[in-house]
Amino acid sequence: MHNFITLEGIEGCGKTSQIKRLHAALQTKDIPALLTREPGGCAIADKIRSILLDPYHTHMVPTAELLLYAAARAQHVEEVIRPELEAGKVVICDRFTDATMAYQGYARGLELGTIKTLAQLACAGIEPGLTLWLDLPVEVGIKRALQRNHAQDSRAEARFDQESLLFHSRVQHGYAQLQTENPQRIKRIDADASFDQVTERILKVVAQHLELSRLNP
Ligand code: TMP
Repeated sequence: MHNFITLEGIEGCGKTSQIKRLHAALQTKDIPALLTREPGGCAIADKIRSILLDPYHTHMVPTAELLLYAAARAQHVEEVIRPELEAGKVVICDRFTDATMAYQGYARGLELGTIKTLAQLACAGIEPGLTLWLDLPVEVGIKRALQRNHAQDSRAEARFDQESLLFHSRVQHGYAQLQTENPQRIKRIDADASFDQVTERILKVVAQHLELSRLNP
């Protein structure tokens, strides 16, 4: 799916702010684009998101977690992503199946083959044509994520921010592995730079992918 673009990375890598800039840049060029996110993106998946990210759900078993991500994705794909792509839009999504491989697979230790099978079931043929992996040192990302939670005084979605540094290092390793295995699709963006520099890098890669002369912030 050429027009399906996803952003990935550890907590605090800046992808949620960057994806908004990407969306605005596409709109400035009059390119019809939809910005969405996972888990979430539609009412049913948003409800599943609140279960998944509830900081009181520390006892959720990894398999239940995996199945909930898959359920949210199945709904999101059929209700939003597929119809929007078929309508000719560029769909940009904050996280997708690579997050399940990195978090539930590499970090939680669930079997990667099982995750791939579930992804096939949930996505039913929908896969990103381009994935931007915002690569940032784990210590920097976690520090930023904790500061953000503190500043927003919001612990409502903090379940993963509470995980250990080791857990996030495994997530990071997972993304690195996925990038090595899928170099055509997954492009590494060095996110250890200023906000504007990272935007510039992202816009360049997306412009190349969509065969646009350039995209301006
Ligand atoms: P966010 O930080 O991008 O809002 O994502 C919410 C959390 O959900 C984040 O900690 C990563 C986690 N996550 C998974 O563990 N597996 C998944 O498949 C997805 C999409 C997100």
